[in-house]
This record gives sequence, structure tokens and C-alpha cells, in this order.
Amino acid sequence: MLRPFITRRTILSANMRVFLALSALAGLASAIRLPPQIRSAGRPHVVEFRVKRDGRKASHNPAVFNGSIINQGDQSYLTSAHIGSGTHNVTLVLDTGSSDLWVSDSRKLTVNNISRDEGVNLTYGLGSAIGNIAYAPVSVGTYRIPSQALVIANDTEQLDVEGILGLGFDSASQIYNTTGNASEAVTPLSNLFAQNASATNSSNFIALDLSRGPDGETTIGGAFTISQYLSDYGSVADQPQLPVTPANSTNWSVAVDGVNVNGQSYNISQDAPEGSNATAVIDSGTSLALVSSNLSDFIYQNISGARSCQSDQGQVWVVPCLNASNVTFQFGGQQYPINPLDLTTVQTYSVNQSTTVAVCLGVFTGVGNVSPTLADIPFYILGDSFMRNVYTSFNFGNNTLAGNFSSSDTGPSVQFLSKSNDTNATYSEFLTQRQQTLSKMDASPIDPSSADCSSVQSLLSKA
Ligand SMILES: *[C@@H]1O[C@H](CO)[C@@H](O)[C@H](O)[C@H]1NC(C)=O
Ligand SMILES: *[C@@H]1O[C@H](CO)[C@@H](O)[C@H](O)[C@H]1NC(C)=O
Ligand SMILES: *[C@@H]1O[C@H](CO)[C@@H](O)[C@H](O)[C@H]1NC(C)=O
Ligand SMILES: *[C@@H]1O[C@H](CO)[C@@H](O)[C@H](O)[C@H]1NC(C)=O
Ligand SMILES: *[C@@H]1O[C@H](CO)[C@@H](O)[C@H](O)[C@H]1NC(C)=O
Ligand SMILES: *[C@@H]1O[C@H](CO)[C@@H](O)[C@H](O)[C@H]1NC(C)=O
Ligand SMILES: *[C@@H]1O[C@H](CO)[C@@H](O)[C@H](O)[C@H]1NC(C)=O
Ligand SMILES: *[C@@H]1O[C@H](CO)[C@@H](O)[C@H](O)[C@H]1NC(C)=O
Ligand SMILES: *[C@@H]1O[C@H](CO)[C@@H](O)[C@H](O)[C@H]1NC(C)=O
Ligand SMILES: *[C@@H]1O[C@H](CO)[C@@H](O)[C@H](O)[C@H]1NC(C)=O
Ligand SMILES: *[C@@H]1O[C@H](CO)[C@@H](O)[C@H](O)[C@H]1NC(C)=O
Ligand SMILES: *[C@@H]1O[C@H](CO)[C@@H](O)[C@H](O)[C@H]1NC(C)=O
Repeated sequence: MLRPFITRRTILSANMRVFLALSALAGLASAIRLPPQIRSAGRPHVVEFRVKRDGRKASHNPAVFNGSIINQGDQSYLTSAHIGSGTHNVTLVLDTGSSDLWVSDSRKLTVNNISRDEGVNLTYGLGSAIGNIAYAPVSVGTYRIPSQALVIANDTEQLDVEGILGLGFDSASQIYNTTGNASEAVTPLSNLFAQNASATNSSNFIALDLSRGPDGETTIGGAFTISQYLSDYGSVADQPQLPVTPANSTNWSVAVDGVNVNGQSYNISQDAPEGSNATAVIDSGTSLALVSSNLSDFIYQNISGARSCQSDQGQVWVVPCLNASNVTFQFGGQQYPINPLDLTTVQTYSVNQSTTVAVCLGVFTGVGNVSPTLADIPFYILGDSFMRNVYTSFNFGNNTLAGNFSSSDTGPSVQFLSKSNDTNATYSEFLTQRQQTLSKMDASPIDPSSADCSSVQSLLSKA
């Protein structure tokens, strides 16, 4: 996970293009991440999986998983799970942008059975994991699934993690598909919801609270809950239900009503496909926020001193580290402001052997700047940079297949509760935190006009 983007050459491979053309975009958005900060803490040091530090408690139904999340430098959010019959847990990326569970074979899990003839290549927006399908008991928090289909990956590309827990619909599951939609091969969440006898339509949901950690370090915080909200955020249930849009989408995709920057409305209809609304996939497996180039420009262009750095590899906004705009996304008639800490990321690069400089880069970036192959996707991918500003409930309705509804089904929807709506406090937090980050660095921030555009671009596009 701390391994950064894949190289441009790989992105442009013919195979990838074929996959994208055929895959109906399922799982597309996962694992698009920023490179690590120079100061980042390396591999996660997670010795125990414990309850939230910051005092927010989940409500007391003991049958409910109220587990904290491992936050790897604000770039990946992981949970600890037990798989098979070994003694150790594995840490899995929580990925609402895909629907499969896989674990690296290097973890030497003891699984029930492994099918030698059911190999599958799980393909993501960037990267892949290949291996055989196996079945094993899986525990997530207090939930246990006696027999869960998963892939034991013997090879991965661009995915430097122990495994991924896909939190999407069965209809986007590549395992489910490979088995010919076998009922025993559904997703972990499908199994959990089906098996929870007391579950009703309205409790088929998960909620994610992604924390904002200090300085690229690995911390424990936030929460991943199943069929339960954190008590402080229970009012998420009263927020507008944003139906998954279009109705046959196999992703957690919702309509975006608008974006406001310093009081100016962005003309969002330019980003909407003919005859429909602009939409965004809400993807915890992507660290950035990938939008249209026009929206990215709209967000950063009026920041005093900001510079659009163009190079043959694309465009990146370089922003004075202590300047920001006030950006608000609108969904279902509600405003969801973005903490300026999530608009830019502090990165460093060497100008010569002895000097390292810091720059702040815009992370609400045109998708084509991250992956030319994905440049034409007709939706935004709002990853962790967006999700840290909201408490999110992903409601499955009574059909985890999605896309295959009968009109009587309760369709899937998303609800957001703003965590950044006290905009004055948020802005002060930005100034304080950012100043602290800069003062602790071994590099001094440079004026955007002095940034070397090709060095800066490579921070967003490759190792
Ligand atoms: C999986 O398939 C993709 C697309 O066809 C390919 O680029 C990739 O190399 C494959 N992954 C592995 C691990 O073989
Ligand atoms: C869940 O919350 C309850 C009560 O708040 C607490 O006793 C329990 O330890 C928590 N469990 C986990 C796995 O965090
Ligand atoms: C593995 O176990 C699952 C469920 O326990 C079963 O459905 C499947 O047929 C088994 N596969 C093999 C190859 O034995
Ligand atoms: C990994 O698994 C795939 C899919 O079953 C298989 O084709 C490949 O031979 C395996 N590779 C290794 C090195 O075991
Ligand atoms: C291992 O995973 C289980 C299931 O998520 C969890 O209840 C337990 O607390 C984890 N243990 C450790 C040491 O992380
Ligand atoms: C699996 O996906 C392929 C390609 O997207 C599709 O043609 C096939 O019908 C799917 N299989 C099942 C069983 O859904
Ligand atoms: C959803 O429906 C539209 C319009 O009917 C169609 O073009 C699109 O391919 C469908 N998407 C999926 C994932 O089935
Ligand atoms: C766009 O969204 C609005 C409100 O969210 C809704 O009333 C309208 O039907 C949507 N239009 C399309 C074409 O989906
Ligand atoms: C969902 O609920 C509706 C109404 O309660 C019911 O008619 C429908 O069959 C259910 N769908 C599934 C997939 O269970
Ligand atoms: C932010 O939203 C919460 C939850 O809706 C509300 O209680 C609080 O008053 C709001 N704060 C501001 C400053 O609007
Ligand atoms: C933020 O500060 C401005 C100016 O001090 C004030 O007018 C405004 O009411 C404040 N907003 C909130 C939500 O507190
Ligand atoms: C953004 O909002 C903060 C706090 O409300 C305010 O201090 C700042 O001047 C605003 N910035 C712009 C560019 O409007």
C-alpha cells in the first residue's frame, strides 16, 4: 500500500484497456493512491486491534462489530480480520470500490479447501491479484462467516498489501462471476447480511468513519461498523438517502448536485453524461479524489499563488501550503464542506544531493493525470480525501446484487453526515495542523513558482 502509483507504461498496457472496455467498470477505482511521504512510518506497526482512542463509542449491541480502523498515512484504511484456522490476523484494505476478498498466499493461511481449477485474476483500476478461489471461515469483529469464498493470491501487481476486503455488491464480484454466480461464492457482506437472522432490509448497511492522521503516520482511529452506527453519528440515518445512480450501477455511485468554491457554483452539468446527472463513486480504496480537469481547475485556480504545473505527463496544481479555497460538495440538497487539509497533500522532492523541498499538491485532480486510461470515465471517484469529511452509511437495501432489482426491492443508497460543517473551526484546524506538519519536516516549502513541474508531476504519477 505504501507502494505508490504504477508507472505510466503499465497503465497504458493493451490488456488494461481491454479490461476496462469489458468490465463495465467494476472494481475500477480501487487502489489508486498517492506515493508515501518521505517521512511516512513504513509498514504498519499494528500490535493490537482496539477500540477507538478518541472516546467515541459505538452503541452497545454486543453482536455488532465496532472495530477501529488502521489508518495508514491517510492513504489506506484497513481492518483486522481472522481467516482460516491459523493464529494470526490479517490486515485488509477496506475497499468500497470492489467486491472481492483476497489474501496474499505469503500469509500461509490454513483454508478449508482450495479449488485448483478456479483461478481468477482480480483486476483493479490500478493493479491486480491472481490466485485460486478457496473457502474458509472469516471473522470480522464479532461476526463470523463459516465458509467464505476468497482468493489466495500467488501474485500481485501494484498492490503491496496483505489483502483487500471488497465492500461492494455481488454484481461486481469477480469471484462470484468466475464461479458462474454460485450462491456459496457471494461477498462477505452478502453472507453476513443473509446469515444475520434478525436482519431486516434496513439493517443491511455498513458505516465508515475515516480518520485524519498526523503526518503520514499509521494510527488507529475512525470506525468500520456493520449494521450499526457510532452513537455520535447516529443522525446519519436522518440524512438524505442518495440512491445508487444510475439504478443499474454495480458501484457505490451517487448523483452530485453541485460543487461550490468560495461562494461560486461550478457548472456541474458539463460533467454529466447526456441526459443524466453528474455522479461520483464513493471509494474508500482510492486515496485521492479524482474529478474532471475543469473541476480541479475551478477548485485551485483562484487560490492566491497557486500554479498549474503542466508537463508531458499531465497537470498538477501546486498550491502555497497555507492557502486554500472553501470547497463544498452538494448531495441530496445538503452541503458537505471539505476540510482544506484534504485539498492538498504535502510532498517532498530533492532538488540536488543536499536539498529537499516541500510542495503542496492538489489532490482533487483530473483523473487523466493519474491514469490516462481512465481519463474518459464519465464519473468522479471520491476517495479518502473526500470521505474523511463525512460519516458514510452504505445501505444495501435488500439486494446485495445491485443492478438486478425488481421494482419491489429496496435499492441501495448512501447517506452522508458532514464532519466538517463547522467551517470556521475547520479552517483554523487546517492552519494549525499544516503549520505543525511543515515545521516538523526536514524540508522547507518552496513557492509554487519555483517548483520543478516534472519532479512535481512524478510525485503524483509514479514512484
Ligand atoms: C491480470 O490481468 C491483467 C489484465 O489482463 C494483467 O495486466 C495482469 O498482469 C494480470 N495479473 C497478474 C497478476 O497476472
Ligand atoms: C464494542 O463496544 C462495546 C460497548 O461500547 C465494547 O464493550 C466492546 O469492547 C466493543 N468491541 C469492539 C470489538 O470494539
Ligand atoms: C469448498 O467448500 C465450499 C463450501 O464449504 C464448497 O461449496 C465447495 O464446493 C468446496 N470446493 C471444493 C473444490 O471442494
Ligand atoms: C497462480 O495462480 C494462477 C491462477 O490459478 C495460476 O494460473 C498460476 O500458475 C499460479 N502461479 C503460481 C506461481 O503458482
Ligand atoms: C483479529 O480479528 C478479529 C476479527 O476481526 C478481531 O475480533 C480481533 O480483535 C483481532 N485480533 C487482533 C489481535 O487484532
Ligand atoms: C462474468 O463476466 C463476464 C464479462 O463481464 C460476462 O460475460 C459473464 O456473463 C459473467 N458471468 C456471469 C456468470 O455473470
Ligand atoms: C445500465 O443501463 C444503461 C442504459 O440502459 C446501459 O447503457 C448500461 O450499459 C447499463 N450498465 C450496466 C452496468 O449494466
Ligand atoms: C438528477 O437529479 C435530480 C435531483 O437529484 C433528479 O430529480 C433528476 O431526476 C435527476 N436526473 C436524471 C436524468 O437522473
Ligand atoms: C425486497 O423487499 C421487497 C418488499 O419487502 C420484496 O418484494 C422483494 O422480493 C425483496 N427482494 C429481495 C431480493 O429479497
Ligand atoms: C454540523 O452538523 C451537525 C449534525 O447535523 C449539527 O448538529 C451541527 O449543528 C452542525 N454544525 C454547524 C456549525 O453547522
Ligand atoms: C465564521 O466566521 C464568520 C466571520 O467571523 C462569521 O460571520 C460566521 O458566522 C462564522 N460561521 C460559523 C459557521 O460559525
Ligand atoms: C474560507 O473560510 C475561512 C473560514 O470561514 C475564511 O477565514 C477564509 O477567508 C475563507 N477563504 C476564502 C478564500 O474565502
